Amino acid sequence: MTDAPVDSTSTAAWGQLTALAADFEPDLRRWFAQDPGRVDRLTFDAGDLHVDLSKSLLDDSVLAALLALAEEVGVAGRRDAMFAGEHINVTEDRAVLHTALRLPADAPPRERPNVDGQDVVADVHDVLRRVYDFADQVRSGAWTGVTGERIRTVVNIGIGGSDLGPVMAYEALAAYRQEGLECRFISNIDPTDAATTLAGLDPATTLFIVSSKTFGTLETLTNARLCKAWLLDGLAASDASLDQRSAVAKHFVAVSTALDKVADFGIDPANAFGFWDWVGGRYSVDSAIGTSLVIAIGPERFAELLGGFHTIDEHFRTAPPAENVPLLMGLLNVWYTNFLGAESHAVLPYAQLLHRFPAYLQQLTMESNGKGVRWDGSPVTTETGEIYWGEPGTNGQHAFYQLIHQGTRLIPADFIAFVNPAYPLRDGDTDVHQLFLANFLAQTRALAFGKTADEVRAEGTAEAVVPARVFTGNRPTTSIMAPELSPSVLGQLIALYEHLTFTQGVVWGIDSFDQWGVELGKQLAQQVQAAVAGDTAAAGAQDASTQALLAYYWRHRT
Ligand code: F6P
Repeated sequence: MTDAPVDSTSTAAWGQLTALAADFEPDLRRWFAQDPGRVDRLTFDAGDLHVDLSKSLLDDSVLAALLALAEEVGVAGRRDAMFAGEHINVTEDRAVLHTALRLPADAPPRERPNVDGQDVVADVHDVLRRVYDFADQVRSGAWTGVTGERIRTVVNIGIGGSDLGPVMAYEALAAYRQEGLECRFISNIDPTDAATTLAGLDPATTLFIVSSKTFGTLETLTNARLCKAWLLDGLAASDASLDQRSAVAKHFVAVSTALDKVADFGIDPANAFGFWDWVGGRYSVDSAIGTSLVIAIGPERFAELLGGFHTIDEHFRTAPPAENVPLLMGLLNVWYTNFLGAESHAVLPYAQLLHRFPAYLQQLTMESNGKGVRWDGSPVTTETGEIYWGEPGTNGQHAFYQLIHQGTRLIPADFIAFVNPAYPLRDGDTDVHQLFLANFLAQTRALAFGKTADEVRAEGTAEAVVPARVFTGNRPTTSIMAPELSPSVLGQLIALYEHLTFTQGVVWGIDSFDQWGVELGKQLAQQVQAAVAGDTAAAGAQDASTQALLAYYWRHRT
């Protein structure tokens, strides 16, 4: 699948969209008033996800042209190539098969991708069984630390995709965690992260999971060494004769595609869980990278999470384009980005438990689609990528919503809300979750329909202040609702964003599965390290600004 990408800007549909954008005058008030079928026509169900696109800046002509664009650039063909295990990650010459991580063990042969002669579904389920067995042992107390005490805290050491997925899902599924078993996460190479995360923990009851696809990531290996030293020092304080090798074997496990490097680190390969180069880091929470989560919520719930992913995979693979939610959402984002000038995209979960979801999506979408060349090496022909950001409602309402409501930028926003709360509470007669949902509904309504000057005046507002109190409306939102934030629904949500990211990548002609843009900084950090440590020759080789910053560092170091 190394054919040159179709240049989307040279398609007929792109021309049509350009013409439509030139005359586009969105008017959600009028569209809603004149078209009673709009909401029905633009609301879709995919699995348990109920997705309302009616408050989007979309009319039938734009929608038809977007669907034609998907057809012309070949989204469906590339999607099928991905599911079949073709090497669509061109720059790394790899298959892209995170969808195989959630195929059921008994998936029929026609759905089982075969990577270079290997039945990957069998491999996936072999590892899953080992992870589940290990998690059961930790959860039941059968797996103990070296002193025989049961594990109380699991610390995942990883960064990027080896951290964000597990921590996001651990937070999201708080209601499903086993009591008495806590997970913590260390990612940053700022030593504060390790220091504060380990504070108060008892080495005898702490288990570390070193999660790294490559097992070569500076942050993760440094933190793993810090944690190993902390563990051994802590255990030796109570028993100086303790055998270090046994201690590491009982307190350290690893998840990686590089099992040889795991052994070099001193972790028993029997305590390592593998995955494969066809799983991108940011697509790996549903692989063994999710081991901390499996321990927290249990294998059964994790299997439900995988089932949720699979539901949306099947939807994306089989639903007709006009009803295919990830495809539609991806195309809508192309419309906003390439035709209406949007640069960023807000994700606003009305669920405190999803407070790490925007951060998770930042890696998923921006590491995937923040590219300036296409998969054949030629420059992109249009803007790519969106800047994802967000915070849970209602906190965001009291911080940055002002800009979304009345600022000069177009900021498409996805609102995510659940019918049933994880923690129902009442304030006297008031169901607090209902109050919360009222805010979600009010915000999307205010953004769509605004408030005219006449409406402001009718409230008795002094004329001088009227302009400041007008809301123009026509600020696009997508509302995603589901019955509750269950493991399955979380899997569905993640898969939804994976596939809409994929859709955008195909339209832009980019390889959404490599991440070469992170390499230069890593290389330079190694070069600069000697300079920071005081090597004057290395310092002298830096540019003038870096030299000046180093000098500041040395002047102020205490
Ligand atoms: O530097 C970016 C990156 O390669 C991500 O894509 C990845 O998720 C992260 O680093 C961690 O990599 P690893 O799992 O190999 O430690």
